[in-house]
Amino acid sequence: MKISLLLPLCLLFSTTLALDLDINDQDSICSAAGTVVNGMLDYYDGKKYGGVVGMFQAPYYWWEAGHAWGGVLDYWYYCQNDSVEDVLYSSLMAQRGNNNDFIPKNQSTTEGNDDQGFWGIFVMSAAERNFTEPKDKDVPDWLSMSQAVYNTMWERWDSDSCSGGLRWQIFTWNSGYDHKNTVSNACLFQMASRLARFTGNDSYVETAETVYQWLIDTQFVVDGDKAYVYDGADISNNCSDIVKLEWSYNYGLLIGGAAYLYNYTESDDWLQKLTSLVNGAKDFFKDDIMYERACQGADNCNNDQRSFKAVFSRALGMTTRLVPSLYDEIRPLLESSAEAAAKSCSGGSDGVTCGLDWTKGSWDNKYGLGEQMCALEIFNSLLAPESPAPYNHENEGVGQGNVDAGKDSDSTSLDRSDLKIETKDRAGAAIVTAICLLILIIGSIWMIM
Ligand SMILES: *[C@@H]1O[C@H](CO)[C@@H](O)[C@H](O)[C@H]1NC(C)=O
Ligand SMILES: *[C@@H]1O[C@H](CO)[C@@H](O)[C@H](O)[C@H]1NC(C)=O
Ligand SMILES: *[C@@H]1O[C@H](CO)[C@@H](O)[C@H](O)[C@H]1NC(C)=O
Ligand SMILES: *[C@@H]1O[C@H](CO)[C@@H](O)[C@H](O)[C@H]1NC(C)=O
Ligand SMILES: *[C@@H]1O[C@H](CO)[C@@H](O)[C@H](O)[C@H]1NC(C)=O
Ligand SMILES: *[C@@H]1O[C@H](CO)[C@@H](O)[C@H](O)[C@H]1NC(C)=O
Repeated sequence: MKISLLLPLCLLFSTTLALDLDINDQDSICSAAGTVVNGMLDYYDGKKYGGVVGMFQAPYYWWEAGHAWGGVLDYWYYCQNDSVEDVLYSSLMAQRGNNNDFIPKNQSTTEGNDDQGFWGIFVMSAAERNFTEPKDKDVPDWLSMSQAVYNTMWERWDSDSCSGGLRWQIFTWNSGYDHKNTVSNACLFQMASRLARFTGNDSYVETAETVYQWLIDTQFVVDGDKAYVYDGADISNNCSDIVKLEWSYNYGLLIGGAAYLYNYTESDDWLQKLTSLVNGAKDFFKDDIMYERACQGADNCNNDQRSFKAVFSRALGMTTRLVPSLYDEIRPLLESSAEAAAKSCSGGSDGVTCGLDWTKGSWDNKYGLGEQMCALEIFNSLLAPESPAPYNHENEGVGQGNVDAGKDSDSTSLDRSDLKIETKDRAGAAIVTAICLLILIIGSIWMIM
């Protein structure tokens, strides 16, 4: 074949395989999002013999499934694609745990407050989207489950160290129990804010305010014209040795929570706090394209971190819906990032596998569940302002909930001997923690320099 024929052929090949996206056309966005969802489901074994319903394949942890399904739920709602309903429903039902609070017994060796929080955020979305309620009359509705997550987290609020806050871990024997981090507290803050707006019960507002004030007091969040959100600290030294890494998901969880809370309270104070967070969030854009600044530059994002932009995208999209006065400020950043993400979704053998680095203008040879999740959620974020706002108690036929759900449950009083934790597992966990801490410390030193 002549070389002059080869070039147009190559061009044709590459254009048919990349993901097409017209940011002004809902059908185009939904079609791109659907393709990305299919890529996510490649990592899902729950429908196969021996697979676990609701979880993705190793090495993806339990928490990430909670967040991943939340993105698919938004897609189900925005694009009205019922073909994903079954997988969402069965995942919620399989992972809700005996007490409907998303502390399933078989996760308790590893489950932290943040892990429970991400599943809580998923089931909260199911309530807000009026997703098909449990068909079994003995199973409580999605709102009750959200309240159970909230109640069990709030019961663990720990004033014995650092004057408050949630610890990272739920269970004393897990490494990380002596650490208080932003993400666990930010999950509780967002749950409280959304429950306030959904139920109209102001006692959730009080909790949200307590949590946020604690984050400011510890200086995990530095408020001001532009907020800084840091990672967390060990409880020794009263939480003062702060790990100053900044992750987009911590900004996202707080921005999302503050947007709901402002929408509900209409208070100037919350608009000011939200605006400050959004100003801080702009550091996560390079030439108007979203990136995970703490690890993407050095190219050392781990599996969890590769999915953080998904949390961030969802929150910014929701903010354009719930706080119209910030639409003009946020929307252009979402549009340019979505266009860049679509260009990155041009890899793999299917030609539509998404990459990690959207600033490149093409696929960067990275792939995984996190990469797919981020692309899905940046596409979803464009649809948020066109769709109805999340429902609340004023809408007909939504869940009734149970304000006391999960209280006095025995989910966290598991008998240690039940768990058969082998000494070698604990030693392994200790080594993993030591390595993680070392990486965090080296990372912080590197960031400071
Ligand atoms: C609906 O979602 C499925 C599963 O992800 C996908 O294969 C299908 O193309 C989607 N349908 C439409 C009309 O986009
Ligand atoms: C955990 O238990 C649930 C039922 O409570 C089950 O559906 C799931 O498959 C189990 N997960 C694992 C990883 O074994
Ligand atoms: C509001 O929530 C609080 C705390 O969860 C609860 O004690 C109170 O009964 C609730 N009020 C109403 C009207 O449901
Ligand atoms: C410990 O930290 C909390 C929160 O930052 C602060 O309110 C408290 O005063 C500190 N306590 C001591 C003894 O330094
Ligand atoms: C709350 O959200 C609704 C629905 O998006 C919107 O119409 C309303 O303006 C929002 N309220 C505030 C205070 O921004
Ligand atoms: C919620 O779902 C129920 C049951 O399908 C339905 O009767 C009700 O109208 C729905 N409410 C809204 C606001 O969509």
